[in-house]
Amino acid sequence: MTTHPDRIIIFDTTLRDGEQSPGATLTVDEKLTIARALARLGVDVIEAGFPFASPGDFEAVQKIAETVGTETGPMICGLARATRNDIKTAAEALKPAAKHRIHTFLATSDIHLEYKLKKTRAEVLQIVPEMVAYARSLVDDVEFSPEDAGRSDPEFLYQVLEQAIAAGATTINIPDTVGYTTPSEFGALIKGIKENVPNIDQAIISVHGHNDLGLAVANFLEAVKNGARQLECTINGIGERAGNAALEELVMALHVRRAYFNPFLGRPVESSEPLTRIDTKQIYSTSRLVSELTGMMVQPNKAIVGANAFAHESGIHQDGVLKNKLTYEIMDAESIGLTNNQIVLGKLSGRNAFRTRLKELGFELSENELNNAFLRFKEVADKRKEITDWDLEAIVNDEIRQAPELFRLELVQVSCGDYSRPTATVSVRTPDGQELTDAAIGTGPVDAVYKAINRVVNLPNDLIEFSVKSVTEGIDALGKVTIRLRHNDVIYTGYAANTDIIVASARAYLNALNRLYAALESQNATGKQPVTASL
Ligand code: KIV
Ligand code: ZN
Repeated sequence: MTTHPDRIIIFDTTLRDGEQSPGATLTVDEKLTIARALARLGVDVIEAGFPFASPGDFEAVQKIAETVGTETGPMICGLARATRNDIKTAAEALKPAAKHRIHTFLATSDIHLEYKLKKTRAEVLQIVPEMVAYARSLVDDVEFSPEDAGRSDPEFLYQVLEQAIAAGATTINIPDTVGYTTPSEFGALIKGIKENVPNIDQAIISVHGHNDLGLAVANFLEAVKNGARQLECTINGIGERAGNAALEELVMALHVRRAYFNPFLGRPVESSEPLTRIDTKQIYSTSRLVSELTGMMVQPNKAIVGANAFAHESGIHQDGVLKNKLTYEIMDAESIGLTNNQIVLGKLSGRNAFRTRLKELGFELSENELNNAFLRFKEVADKRKEITDWDLEAIVNDEIRQAPELFRLELVQVSCGDYSRPTATVSVRTPDGQELTDAAIGTGPVDAVYKAINRVVNLPNDLIEFSVKSVTEGIDALGKVTIRLRHNDVIYTGYAANTDIIVASARAYLNALNRLYAALESQNATGKQPVTASL
């Protein structure tokens, strides 16, 4: 990558910072599915994870490097704290990728130095070049981030950045870790770096920012005007706390307002050359995929990808849009790949049509997953005449997201109604192959089912969210159930879809319990609690 790109580099961190959203934990297969979608979307760099954090993270980064990090694919990046072990582990995980990058970081704000790292500025000035040089001895492309740059003393920041670049950092990333800065301050920070770091022309300036005050996207656009050429963002803006800058908002702002931004990149106002390499038509399907797999719903009024983003409710607006779309629309729904929820398949559709449509929707399933999903599709198609794209998504996500199926639901039966006490019986196959059956009474049928499952599975937890949504309109629609539960301050999500919402509720709960069980098993095996970067 040249140090002076004449376009904006999109660095996607959905699989690293995005996965740090409470409850968004993804399995290795889910991460691979998202990484493939990101490659189709056209991101330049995928930050695939934090390999030292856990064996699961290492495996995910390695698999993504192997399968998505091809010669023509995106660069694959792994996060590492500024320590030899982290950096070495990241380099090992990234090895299979044709293009790879180590992203190492160390905090520079006094508040982080004093309370978190207990290090002096002098120590930071010594560690940073040493660790960047070590990373450069392992890979050619190294990114360095001074964590909490937004609250760091600019003079000290300039010195650290100069040292990092001199030691071989090819990208220097400026994080507003706590989402504190305002757009004009952030723009001025980038300008200050350009003017005061003597070797800045030897590195690309990148930005990373959190959305605590809802300013991340605005901050980034100001940074672009002042010389930033790489934007670190996530699909749907997911991420630590209030999330990261949203990829779809940045890309569409640069797309729709190209003429405004062109001069800041040294182009004529009227240049029609896209400012990013993103295929905007893939935005909507990628957004849905990430939302389904992470269980993080997109709010209806979310810019670009929210359900209402292109809906016109008031009569005046509808009338205007019918006369000329430009009256109330600044971009076409088609430009983000939003098509009508077409009826695509029915019960006579074959495997081939099923596989082809799934591929178009961004799903590449293994033979086994495809077979199981096809069986589920046939079951649903027997009950419903028409299967839409949204039904397909729900069916496939149900299939992908059941893994790891350690406890397996064999039977669920409820009795409820006005004059009876809701009672449920469940049979569950345990990981060691036994079939256990139990029954319970609850305040309603779902409560009774969850109590019966608890008696069998016996993994104490607090249920913190339970939501049922119908996939399409109509009484025979598939119901999607998403749940979140908490165990020892870690949140686990569960998801399932079925035309019977009691079955979907039971499967979603077991799905979350399976994730919890797998995490406990892996902690027992490694004796290690997952490392969180506390970013
Ligand atoms: O928010 C942050 O500072 C980070 C760094 C690792 C870039 O995520
Ligand atoms: Zn972050």
